[in-house]
Amino acid sequence: MIEIDWAEEAGRLRAAAEGEGAWNAGVANSLVRDSDKVVADVGCGGGGMAKALAEALPGATVVAIDADPDVLEQAREHTAGLVRCELASMDGGAEPLRAAIDAPADLIWASASVHHAADQQAAVDALASLLAPGGRLALAEGGLPARHLPWDLGVGEPGLELRLDLAQDRWFKVMRDSLPGSVPMPYGWTEALTRAGLTGATTRSVLTETPAPLPPERLEGVVHAFRIRIERLTGTGHGHGHGHGHGHGHGHVVADEEWLSPEDLDTWRQLLDPEGPHYLGQRTDLAVLSVRSVHLGHLPR
Ligand SMILES: C[S@@+](CC[C@H](N)C(=O)[O-])C[C@H]1O[C@@H](n2cnc3c(N)ncnc32)[C@H](O)[C@@H]1O
Repeated sequence: MIEIDWAEEAGRLRAAAEGEGAWNAGVANSLVRDSDKVVADVGCGGGGMAKALAEALPGATVVAIDADPDVLEQAREHTAGLVRCELASMDGGAEPLRAAIDAPADLIWASASVHHAADQQAAVDALASLLAPGGRLALAEGGLPARHLPWDLGVGEPGLELRLDLAQDRWFKVMRDSLPGSVPMPYGWTEALTRAGLTGATTRSVLTETPAPLPPERLEGVVHAFRIRIERLTGTGHGHGHGHGHGHGHGHVVADEEWLSPEDLDTWRQLLDPEGPHYLGQRTDLAVLSVRSVHLGHLPR
């Protein structure tokens, strides 16, 4: 059983919003059209994309929606008056979202939020029903697991990062199964957009790369993100701090599930010990390679 306490994640989501400004600005600029008047970010987290959309579309109404009041408060602070922030859940059907946006939307963005809805297809259907004729729904979901570490670190068994990704994948299944009223969606996101009545559904993936050696601040961020991922899988996390914020490695584990082998856990302890000889933060060969997918569908005019 896994239950995510979003209020505990609010600080991390705010930090992600602050750290991902450049990525958000690039994607926002590639998605908007000058004619867009009403835009929404649903499951907005710290409000990073909502802010980028408002900056890309001066004069448009941008609405940031989230189901958690503490998270929404972070979005409110981050977007500093540029965006209207509204509390509503995708689990309540279309009407609460429609009331929150208050007009047919030209563009709806939902990043890493639909996969937290109990019925993902119902959530996509609800979002699609909020579009104005010709409007677009953009779902940022999935992509490729990010890579940071060399395959052989010289400590523990090679392939450590791959095994962490696999553990998180198993975690994700338990998280989905733990959602009250969870409904499987045994097909991909463009199919979900098509089933919601949208046309021309397609995917565009964005690759981001910072090669080694990472600048000190970036290196610190990568090590911190690993620390949080390990703390969560071992049930010792506190839900604060910043991470890369994407994919599905957040939330709290209700103890006694063995996500990682004792050998890998020991390796992680060594890698994350600032006093030890294997501390990741001392290495010059960490990098960031990330690929995130944006799935886009259109409502016919
Ligand atoms: C992983 S975070 C992603 C935040 C942000 N969109 C991003 O990409 O950084 C998921 C967000 O969805 C929100 N959320 C979860 N379930 C939701 C629901 N049923 N309706 C609306 N928002 C929800 C959470 O409060 C959280 O802010």
